[in-house]
Amino acid sequence: MACTLEQARKWIEEAERIVVLTGAGISAESGVPTFRGTGGLWRQYRPEELATPEAFARDPKLVWEWYLWRRSIIAKAAPNPGHLALVRLEARKPEFLLITQNVDGLHERAGSRRLVKLHGDIWEVRCVQCGRQERDERLELPELPPRCSCGGSLRPAVVWFGEDLPENAWNEAVRAVHSAQLLLVVGTSAVVYPAASLIPMARTSGARIIEVNLEETPYSPAVDCALRGRAGELLPQLIP
Ligand code: OAD
Repeated sequence: MACTLEQARKWIEEAERIVVLTGAGISAESGVPTFRGTGGLWRQYRPEELATPEAFARDPKLVWEWYLWRRSIIAKAAPNPGHLALVRLEARKPEFLLITQNVDGLHERAGSRRLVKLHGDIWEVRCVQCGRQERDERLELPELPPRCSCGGSLRPAVVWFGEDLPENAWNEAVRAVHSAQLLLVVGTSAVVYPAASLIPMARTSGARIIEVNLEETPYSPAVDCALRGRAGELLPQLIP
């Protein structure tokens, strides 16, 4: 449903319990490529060759080269006014949760703290053998794949196709959506599940839903307010 920016701003101001769901679109204006749509990563690369456990087992060097290339882009990127608006929103609301599908770390760098990362973090690695996870912000690695002290291969600690979401993150997201008065959905194509299912879940539990996206998504017709435009321009107007 279309609505005015003024109406959406008022709903955001009035709500005490707010959940925000973000996707790659919020980082687009920081120069981080999205996955789908014009210039999207999945137009150039095949997900099954790069973002599955099978791909990593087959060719860990290729998978790591792709992640190091993405790290190099993200390292040069800075949070944009969209990320910063969400930090302001967090400061104003007694109950707030930012749920992101992004692995780039730009929300944290902007200052968001009440945050759950559904798809992991590109700046962390996990051992495929012993499961140890640690931060690793290097842009170059001495060997690909890098090795854990136990001898196992280290992989990016991100969720790949066919893998489950981190249980704690998912449970926290579901809990927050169930008690939210308002869900603000920003820059996601809303086609990747289970993340996208948070949108109908919010609807079922009676929350208002506002969508900010450059384009129409499968949920646009069902939300209370679908705003078309760039997150970096619309969010600062919604959260002045
Ligand atoms: P997508 O690339 O699928 O969608 C990005 C969305 O952002 C699209 O709907 C665009 O219209 C919108 N968009 C682009 N630029 C924008 C801007 N400046 N302002 C507002 N909207 C903008 O990204 P996600 O929905 O995040 O999964 O993709 C979900 C998951 O698919 C990702 O987390 C990743 C990918 O495979 C994993 O890595 C597990």
